[in-house]
Amino acid sequence: MGLTDTPRWLPCQYLYDAKGSALFEEITRQPEYYPTRTEAGILERHAADIRDATGPVSLIELGSGSSVKTSHLLSAYAKAGGPVTYVPVDVSAAALERARARIGRLHPTVRVDGIVGRYDEAFPRFRRHSPAMVLFLGSTIGNFNHGESVSFWQRVSRELAPGDYFLLGADLVKDVSVLEAAYNDAAGITAAFTLNVFARMNRELGAGIDLDRLEHVARYNEDWQRVEIFARFNSKQTVRIEPLDSAVEIAAGEMVMVEISRKFLLRDLTSHLATFGFAVRQVYTDDRRWFGLLLLQKEES
Ligand SMILES: C[S@@+](CC[C@H](N)C(=O)[O-])C[C@H]1O[C@@H](n2cnc3c(N)ncnc32)[C@H](O)[C@@H]1O
Repeated sequence: MGLTDTPRWLPCQYLYDAKGSALFEEITRQPEYYPTRTEAGILERHAADIRDATGPVSLIELGSGSSVKTSHLLSAYAKAGGPVTYVPVDVSAAALERARARIGRLHPTVRVDGIVGRYDEAFPRFRRHSPAMVLFLGSTIGNFNHGESVSFWQRVSRELAPGDYFLLGADLVKDVSVLEAAYNDAAGITAAFTLNVFARMNRELGAGIDLDRLEHVARYNEDWQRVEIFARFNSKQTVRIEPLDSAVEIAAGEMVMVEISRKFLLRDLTSHLATFGFAVRQVYTDDRRWFGLLLLQKEES
């Protein structure tokens, strides 16, 4: 895979086994990794305004992970009175279990109805929870390539009832040095996250990859407006896929794309979302305009 927008060979959920989830939590605490801290600050400042704008709604969070940032919203919705239902959705059962325990301690009045599964498994539940607001934070939308993003918005738009809300966290285009530092932390946690997927392939597919000959590479592609994360194979290797009884030859120096993280311009993003029937009700951002939190509402079709 190179610098194209062709479908990636690795759906992003495969990065999040139990170890991948734990490593992601560690990434969010690295000094170079600004997105989590910045988005949390925006949520903390504006949670009450968001609650005032939407009124009482069920909160459905796609790819909820630790749900730590979501606490700001859960507090605001609980404070406003009335029952609050929170539906976290994540492929990582371990992350969901940790989140459930934490929310039980911090927000005892919130009813948690989690789903261990993929995003699309939660879509049919949207109407049942209406009036609702779907949360998609952490700029996880940036992990989808253009085609995946179009399918995602088409489906979400179809499944949400008119009038329901969507709160989207989007990392914005900024100085390349800031972007590249965020994905090349000095402690090497993002590198460990990248290599973990190959360790998983060894475990689950019998791939037989020599992990010591792999190197994490993350760089910003200005043309595609995205950080691209690769594993560079420093020697020729044969990657076996035992369940399919097949193998793939990887040449020395070949780069295998593991993940992308697209960065957005607010004006492009809002016009893109309008094509799927979403009106932007409010855009919240930080002083440096590094991260955007968009409150969207599904319009009548
Ligand atoms: C980039 S992390 C973001 C976590 C959290 N929302 C945040 O903002 O910090 C992506 C999360 O989505 C989950 N995830 C990835 N692909 C998924 C999928 N297809 N369906 C459900 N969850 C998924 C991962 O397990 C992980 O917890």
